[in-house]
Amino acid sequence: MSLKILQYGASGQLARELVRQAPGHAVELTALSRAEADLSDPEAAARHVRAARPDLVILAAAYTAVDQAESEPGLAHEINGEAPAAIAAACAAAGAALVHISTDYVFDGRKGAPYVEADPTNPLSVYGASKLSGERMALAACPRSLVLRTSWVVSAHGKNFVKTMLRLAREGQPLRVVDDQFGRPTAAADLAAFVLAQAPRLARAEAGDPAFGLFHFANAGETSWREFAQAVLEMAMNGEAPRVDPIATADRPAPARRPARGTLDTGKLERTFDWRPRPWREPLAEILVELARPTLSSNGAPVA
Ligand SMILES: NC(=O)c1ccc[n+]([C@@H]2O[C@H](COP(=O)([O-])OP(=O)(O)OC[C@H]3O[C@@H](n4cnc5c(N)ncnc54)[C@H](OP(=O)(O)O)[C@@H]3O)[C@@H](O)[C@H]2O)c1
Repeated sequence: MSLKILQYGASGQLARELVRQAPGHAVELTALSRAEADLSDPEAAARHVRAARPDLVILAAAYTAVDQAESEPGLAHEINGEAPAAIAAACAAAGAALVHISTDYVFDGRKGAPYVEADPTNPLSVYGASKLSGERMALAACPRSLVLRTSWVVSAHGKNFVKTMLRLAREGQPLRVVDDQFGRPTAAADLAAFVLAQAPRLARAEAGDPAFGLFHFANAGETSWREFAQAVLEMAMNGEAPRVDPIATADRPAPARRPARGTLDTGKLERTFDWRPRPWREPLAEILVELARPTLSSNGAPVA
């Protein structure tokens, strides 16, 4: 019998990868769009768990507009804090396990070394604080929760750094990218593959199993945003890549402060799940191949 998964989020980077990969696993995955389950109404959103009685719930939707959150703190906390709490409580009541996604922005980036799960948190932004409250409330409300903090998520879908850099280069715009923020890029595809691979174990495992709790997930290798941008262009443009100039964070003021070095240590996840994250250049190459492919219309013809 296939495993029943209820997923919040249908159109985000991670949500789309989960939907795309699910057919390769013995799971029956239902993805709820924002129209079907709006997380700004946590109790109404959580009712879907009671109705669907899934084996596993994946919370792949979130308020991810980091700068905008500074002017919408109430909404960010509702979606990123209260909704995970309500969904986690519904999971506990319905006997479902929960996978919830959090962020490196729960840290202030001043440690001077990669962060392990037990390190003290100190979010610098409303977004980071809202995600921290969500991960805490999820773990408290549902003992069968796996909370995965991840960082710098990229894919061929939606809005993300890789696509922005390619667009700016195509438009011939000068490329100036911050060189004093460091982290680990993460392919949504690799995160989705990990979650789906663990689904059977999570659905079976009882509270107290080492698979539950807080873990860090990211592709291997630390980089700066500038170095990452340069790698994107060099891999995509074969020797014709424009140069990406370094700037400091202070040269590009933004409403939300970001950790200077939020690099995640993934050792706990590697040991617990016997999982080796790929170096970030490997999934990046796959994303670039996907982006270079012509989009096909429903009748299979390339879309102009
Ligand atoms: N992106 C990153 O760099 C990054 C880094 C660290 C952690 N994370 C975490 O990773 C997870 C997945 O991120 P992602 O990059 O896949 O996100 P994303 O591409 O920005 O997508 C966010 C999704 O959440 C949905 N959403 C927003 N507000 C909602 C609401 N009120 N009700 C229901 N759905 C709502 C959006 O729906 P619409 O399409 O309708 O707007 C969208 O599908 C999130 O928990 C995020 O916090 C992301």
